[in-house]
Amino acid sequence: MTALPLRIEASGLTKRFGGIAVVDAVSFQAHAGEIVGLIGPNGAGKTTLFNLLSRVLRSDAGTLLINGIDATRRAPHELATLGLVRTFQLARELDRLTVLENVLLAARDNRGERLFDALCRPAATRKSEHAMIQQAREALSIVSLAPHEAKPAAALSGGQKKLLELARCLMSGADIILLDEIAAGVAPHLVEEIVDLVARLNREHGKTFVVIEHNVGVISRLCSRVVVMAQGSVIAEGSFETISRDANVIASYLGQAA
Ligand SMILES: Nc1ncnc2c1ncn2[C@@H]1O[C@H](COP(=O)(O)OP(=O)(O)O)[C@@H](O)[C@H]1O
Ligand SMILES: [Mg+2]
Repeated sequence: MTALPLRIEASGLTKRFGGIAVVDAVSFQAHAGEIVGLIGPNGAGKTTLFNLLSRVLRSDAGTLLINGIDATRRAPHELATLGLVRTFQLARELDRLTVLENVLLAARDNRGERLFDALCRPAATRKSEHAMIQQAREALSIVSLAPHEAKPAAALSGGQKKLLELARCLMSGADIILLDEIAAGVAPHLVEEIVDLVARLNREHGKTFVVIEHNVGVISRLCSRVVVMAQGSVIAEGSFETISRDANVIASYLGQAA
């Protein structure tokens, strides 16, 4: 059996806050085409691990490969170039921009090139701008937000904003997407839509996902593999069926969630 390529390969990642290892020598992998669930009680270190994988935080120890390339010391903005993005709540100042403009802003940053083109090759610039708008509209249509492209982002519901975040991830062209509690505070019918969309982006567009989520139903439906964290360490991993029978997992998390 040939193993699928590793999209994320983290070894011994550690982050300390005030002497406490909030993420304690965690090793984590995601293979091409997987949807990996990351669960555990509040304060387990899940979001901090995401911050280390996306280089929003510097690790105190450990190594990180993204798509086989050493990202251990990369700046956060370089991670999208390597193929990894994460959803972020839309910044307040982007609320006034339209839905389409928000997606356009997520295009891979090549400002220097665009400035050169605008000055020296205006016709080519218009052509590439046109192509970018086409691409942004395609991303909006995939997430079913096409009819809303001209609205200010502020006019979207909470759930629609999550869909917009996913459209921005698509526009970046990255093949690895980290989702931190994307179903939190979203109306139930939109949770269904988001779950279906993530499954479709995985199946039809080959995107690899890592999903932090407290909604155990969402995790069991989406994830081929689940990693359980508690107190900064990985305490179990495997299929949802396997981890949900694990006595440690039940004691530290699922027992309380049920
Ligand atoms: N910037 C920070 N400074 C100090 N402590 C932090 C910081 N970020 C997170 N922590 C602490 O690290 C622990 C893990 O937090 P977090 O990664 O957000 O957990 P989770 O996402 O699993 O709920 C918590 O105890 C939290 O208080
Ligand atoms: Mg968190």
